[in-house]
Amino acid sequence: MTAEANERVEQKHYLRFSVPQRLQHILLIASFTILALTGLPQKYAAEGIAQSLIGLLGGIETIRVIHRVAATTLMVVAIYHGGEISYKLFVLGKRANMLPTVKDVQDAWHWLRYNLGLGRHYPRMPHFNFSEKAEYLALVWGTIIMIITGFMLWNPITTNRLLPAAWIPAARAAHGAEAVLAVLSIIIWHFYHVHIRHFNKSMFTGTLSHKEMEEEHGAALDAIEAGKEEPKLPTEVIQRRQRLFWPYAVIMTILLVGGLVFFITFEETALTTTSSRLSEPGAVSLSVDAAAGIAAEGAALWQELDCQTCHGADARGVPELSSIPLAGTEISFRAFAASVRRGPADMPAYSPEQIGDEQLAHLWAWLSSLDQEAAQAR
Ligand code: HEC
Repeated sequence: MTAEANERVEQKHYLRFSVPQRLQHILLIASFTILALTGLPQKYAAEGIAQSLIGLLGGIETIRVIHRVAATTLMVVAIYHGGEISYKLFVLGKRANMLPTVKDVQDAWHWLRYNLGLGRHYPRMPHFNFSEKAEYLALVWGTIIMIITGFMLWNPITTNRLLPAAWIPAARAAHGAEAVLAVLSIIIWHFYHVHIRHFNKSMFTGTLSHKEMEEEHGAALDAIEAGKEEPKLPTEVIQRRQRLFWPYAVIMTILLVGGLVFFITFEETALTTTSSRLSEPGAVSLSVDAAAGIAAEGAALWQELDCQTCHGADARGVPELSSIPLAGTEISFRAFAASVRRGPADMPAYSPEQIGDEQLAHLWAWLSSLDQEAAQAR
């Protein structure tokens, strides 16, 4: 090859990521970062630094709203991504080139040996190499875990109704541990492969240079140069498949977006990660006073109301839900009523139509008559 031709080859750029793919990645960076910044302080709420961060970001209530907005964004991206993959596989007939193969294992092995100075042969890797596949699959798997456990934490009452009580703390442990794992793998694996080894800008520019292709996707480059790229399907075939695909895509989108809306709206509460107990009783207008309360009535009412789900069948709290025991409460009737009417933090607010003032007095009479010692002994 002449020097000139050589140079031409060197300046060639190879398309790697389409515009939609780059947009998805930007949304992913944004939602992931926000989720980590608002999630980890909740996991480590006892630490001083977490408290400062919570304060900086506008307080625990604000943080939790931001966390859920970011989670919703991530789920929308996930749904879009699912649609895009389905289109590529079922309409364009592309190979599932993100699935691991035996060659990836060999590549990883040669790559490791090369880096340790034990082998001279640097692997020629495919369009998506082993480190990219591993990261992608970890992302998919991690997102599934986070959606399932996030749903349980977002809707603790329903979860508690459907599953044994231990599932909530288990979901919380899994959600937090997966978060730490994800953040560490981004910092160690992703930053190393994509930024430190050399700065790979293709996710923003969309292309890779000849030299970068040579280094990271040698096998893919060989195929391109030999004219052996994946064959394109004939237009009629694609059109026929599109006609089948779109109705399916519309139905799936409606189902998934519907599921997402259900996910974020169907319970009015979520699990408390750190407490924000109301300190001042505030003014609520009450038609009865404390004297109207009859403890026995309150005990019977407790069996009927859903207070139990969070405060426990015996009103002594549900440790897994990190909520407050009410048995033996020393708060005044007014403060008690204010809490029930307003619904502090994750507790739903109850209107006088749902629970009358007199019933509140009964509940308070019963709760404050209970033995606090026994409550604390638990
Ligand atoms: C979804 C779970 C949930 C349900 C259902 C629920 N609560 Fe609560 N409740 C909480 C949480 C969480 C707190 C603590 C809020 C905070 O951190 O300030 C709380 C706090 C309270 C407080 C304030 C206690 C204190 O010492 O400050 C009272 C009183 C109370 N609840 C009564 C009730 C009553 C009565 C019912 C039923 C009508 C009820 N709750 C139903 C979760 C719940």
